[in-house]
Amino acid sequence: MSVALGRFVVLDGPDGCGKSTQVRMLAEWLRGRGLRIAAYRDPGTTAVGEKIRSILLDSADLKMGAKVEALLFMAARAQLWQEHIAADLAAGTWVVMDRWISSTCAYQGFAGGFGIEKVIGLGQDCLTRVWPDLTIVLDIDTKTAAGRMDRALDRMEQKGREYHAKVREGFLALARMHPEHLRVVNAARSIDEVQAEVQGIVSKLTIDY
Ligand code: TMP
Repeated sequence: MSVALGRFVVLDGPDGCGKSTQVRMLAEWLRGRGLRIAAYRDPGTTAVGEKIRSILLDSADLKMGAKVEALLFMAARAQLWQEHIAADLAAGTWVVMDRWISSTCAYQGFAGGFGIEKVIGLGQDCLTRVWPDLTIVLDIDTKTAAGRMDRALDRMEQKGREYHAKVREGFLALARMHPEHLRVVNAARSIDEVQAEVQGIVSKLTIDY
């Protein structure tokens, strides 16, 4: 008997969009439906990934450009795939991710000026799988998002209002370029409203499962 492959679902979006809460709620909901779920954050989760994360998010000025950022984010992602995701999906476990390559497209590719297509090309060279089964972009305006982040900001979050407005634009541009891979959800609503829409979209993946 063959084992069904797990599904690979990503929640992504600008800082302050609420994706970590939405990932937690989605994972719980899917577990409640009897599915085996692994939830990971990118960058991070693996020992290598967490070290790369601390280099990238260190608030000291590291004079790091968008290209080097993209390479480091991609390296952390490749390690996460190799250590966890590949085996999970092969065993029929669903993987719910907090960010994936869509972030590198929006932050380094669009806001940082490296280029969305160049990020995708880098992903094709470095990753076994560039596109998840589904990427949900939690869209939020920069002002509302900033109001949700009343804590110390990391190096990426400190890049300023203009950069973060471009990050949002980058996610929306990517969703227009690849509607077969990405869906956009309005995340400026209540946690429960956003989660209901996320569940509605993800439930379509469970139909033939
Ligand atoms: P997080 O705190 O939401 O996990 O994300 C860490 C920060 O890194 C956040 O500001 C977004 C940024 N980031 C990128 O710039 N490029 C990427 O590819 C990823 C995954 C995150």
